[in-house]
Amino acid sequence: MDRGFLFGDGVYEMLPVYGNAALREDEHLARLAGSLDAIDIPNPHDQSGWKSLIRELLDRNPVSDHRSVYIEVTRGVGDRDHLYDSALLTPTVFMLCRPVKARDYSGGVGAITHADIRWDYCHIKAVSLLPAVLLKQRAGRAGCHEAILLRDGEVTEGASSNVFIVKDDVIITPPKSNALLPGITRDLIVELARHTGLPCREEALSEQALRDADEIWITSSTMEIAPVVKLDGCRVGTGETGQHWKRMKALYEEFKQKCAAGSPD
Ligand code: PDD
Repeated sequence: MDRGFLFGDGVYEMLPVYGNAALREDEHLARLAGSLDAIDIPNPHDQSGWKSLIRELLDRNPVSDHRSVYIEVTRGVGDRDHLYDSALLTPTVFMLCRPVKARDYSGGVGAITHADIRWDYCHIKAVSLLPAVLLKQRAGRAGCHEAILLRDGEVTEGASSNVFIVKDDVIITPPKSNALLPGITRDLIVELARHTGLPCREEALSEQALRDADEIWITSSTMEIAPVVKLDGCRVGTGETGQHWKRMKALYEEFKQKCAAGSPD
């Protein structure tokens, strides 16, 4: 009778772990706190409480180069009633540690475009993911890896990723809003670009700008940065993985190594 199971009434996080260190742990936990707050679930742990649970989970599982930690918090167990009474509910915490199979994206992936059929609170990392599941499956049936979503003529994000383009040597990603998840990988890429002096802008991305892009990237904690070389069956730029992707991928790899070696991020 968990409301997560009955209603998808909960939120989640997915943290990438390199060596023994969760990448951007503070940022993931801050986003989790924000998601919980947005749907009125009391946060069952403070930052240090979550950190020690993650530590324990990692210590109890076999070490490998790349693992992930999944955290789900639901509103808890109760009668099946849409209406809830917080006073009667204790949030359920579920955590899972898994090895991640490294996937080589250096050859690029395909994507389709699709109308963004989701709701108006996409900034909340909610477990109710049915639209994303259907969109992803539609992309899969078309032999593609991702569905890039369009709302009112503009790109929001992918079904399970954020979207970047490169045009005339400028990296562009849509600004944060209720229309997309504030991706931790997205923020890191923006940070790495600025730190390295690569021109990077957060601005609205029209469907036409997407189709005219020199490069398209999709980013997430599990995918990291994947170059999209085909969009709706048409070549993106030259149809090869781009120079800027290679550069950003190298910067990301360097950052991961530092994280695995235990340097503060
Ligand atoms: N998904 N946008 C959506 C809709 C997502 O589901 C995700 C990640 C992202 C990227 O966020 P981040 O860089 O913080 O992982 C953007 C996770 C990985 C998942 O559902 O498994």
